[in-house]
Amino acid sequence: MSEFLTLNIGLCGFGTVGQGVWKHLSANRAELESRLGVKLNLARAAVRDPGKHRTVKIPRSKLTTDPLAIANDPSIQLVCELMGGTTLARQVTLAALRQGKIVVSANKALICAHGREIIAAAQEHGGHFFFEASVAGGIPIIKALREGLVANRFPRIYGILNGTCNYILTQMEEQDAPYAEVLAEAKRLGYAEADEALDVDGWDTAHKASVLAWLAHGMWVKTDQMIVEGISGITPADFKNAATLGFGIKLLAVITRDLAKNELCVRVHPTLLPAGNVIANVSGVFNAISVTGDVVGTTLYSGRGAGQDATASAVISDIADAAALLKHGKGAHLIGEAPTPARGGCKLAPPESIRCRYYVRLTVKDQPGVLARVASVMARHLVSIASVIQSPAERAGAASLVLTTHESNERAMLATLKQLAGLGSVLDRPLLLRIGDFGD
Ligand code: NAP
Ligand code: HSE
Repeated sequence: MSEFLTLNIGLCGFGTVGQGVWKHLSANRAELESRLGVKLNLARAAVRDPGKHRTVKIPRSKLTTDPLAIANDPSIQLVCELMGGTTLARQVTLAALRQGKIVVSANKALICAHGREIIAAAQEHGGHFFFEASVAGGIPIIKALREGLVANRFPRIYGILNGTCNYILTQMEEQDAPYAEVLAEAKRLGYAEADEALDVDGWDTAHKASVLAWLAHGMWVKTDQMIVEGISGITPADFKNAATLGFGIKLLAVITRDLAKNELCVRVHPTLLPAGNVIANVSGVFNAISVTGDVVGTTLYSGRGAGQDATASAVISDIADAAALLKHGKGAHLIGEAPTPARGGCKLAPPESIRCRYYVRLTVKDQPGVLARVASVMARHLVSIASVIQSPAERAGAASLVLTTHESNERAMLATLKQLAGLGSVLDRPLLLRIGDFGD
C-alpha cells in the first residue's frame, strides 16, 4: 500500500449522507483502495454541532464547525459538500474549485441555482465538480447520460425523481395512510429534505430535472421557467378515481425536446400513468427514469432514490472518479464532464406545445344544471370531455365531479380551469392532473 497515492477527503456535512459515506467507505476501504490503486483518507468533517449524538462514530479530533476551513485546507484534495442549502454550500464549493480541487456534491438545489457559476469556476481553475448523488439517489443516471448515452440526443426523459413523494404517494394509495403520518415517517427514514416543502411541493424534483436537462441538452432551465406542482393537493379519492379510470398517480419530472423545432420543455407535476406503465408500478422510496435517445431508443433505470445507503453509493462512485483523476492526472478528464451548449441554441417551448389528456376534479353544488355549466366552459375553450365520474362529496349538498378530457393543450386547460374556479357552483379550488401517455 505504501506506493499508493493518498486522496485526502474532507466531508462538509456529517448528517444522513455524510455518515453513510463514512460508514461504507470505512467498511469497504480495503477493496476500494485495491481496485482504485489510491489510498482513501477521510481527513476531516464539518458539522454544525460537534456534540450531537451520531449513529456513525467519528473521532472528535477530525470534526470542525468551519466547512470553509476544509475547503481551504491545502492537504485536502477532495471536498464532499453534503450540507445542503445554497449559501454556505456555494461558498465552500467555489472556494475549493478555485484552488483546483475536486468537489463532490449531492446538492441539487445548489446546482440548479448556481450550476453555471460552479462549472465555470471548475473550468477556469482546473477543478472538477462531480454530482452523481444529486439526482435519483443510488441510480447512476448522471453517468448514464454523460457517458453511456453520449451518442444520443434526447427527445424525452421522464420519471420519478423524489423518493419522499413516491414513498408518501405509495403509502396513501396502498395503505390509505394519512399524509402527515407518512411524511413524518419519510423524515425519520432520512429521505426528506431538511425543509420538507422542497420535496412535497415539487421543488426538489424540479432541481433534479434542471440538472438532467442541463446534462442532456446543455441548457440551464430555472424552476421559474418550468411548471412545478407538488403532491399536497392529492387525496385518497384521487387514487380511487384514477384506479377506476385505469391509472396510477406519480410525481414526475418530464423533460421533452422537439428536435425539429429545437424547443425544450421541463415540467414537474403529479401525473396519471396507465396502470401497466413500468414507472406507474415503482413504489416506495424508489425512483425510476425513462430515457429516450434518438440512437438507443428507450432505456429504463430504477433504484432507491433517497436515504443514507443509496446516496452514499453515489457519492462514493464520485470519490472513485476523483481517485482515478488523482492517479491518472488531468488527462483522465471524464467524458462530457460539462456538456457543450445545445446544438443550434435550444429555446423554451411555449405552453401550447404541451399536449396531453387531463383529469379535472371539482367539488360542486349538487344541483340541476351544474354539469351543463361545467361542460359549457370546457366547450368554450375547445376542450373535449372524455369521461365523467360523479360521486357524493364529504360535505352536505356537494358532489365530486371528475372529468377526463381528450387531448388538449396547457394554454386551453389553464384558461378552462380559471373559468371553472370562478363559477358560483364550483366550491373548492379545482384540481388539474395531467395524463402521461408516454407509450412505454
Ligand atoms: P442532514 O442529515 O441534515 O445533514 C447535513 C449535515 O451538514 C449535518 O451534519 C450538519 O451538521 C451539517 N451542516 C449543516 N449546516 C452546516 C453549517 N453551517 N456548518 C457546518 N455543518 C453544517 O442532510 P442530508 O440528508 O445528509 O443531506 C445533505 C445533502 O445531500 C443535501 O444537499 C441533500 O439535498 C442531499 N441529498 C440527500 C439525500 C438523502 O436521502 N438524505 C439524497 C440525495 C441528496 P449537524 O449534523 O451538526 O447538524
Ligand atoms: N429528499 C430527496 C428525496 C432526497 O426524497 O428524493 C434525495 O435527493
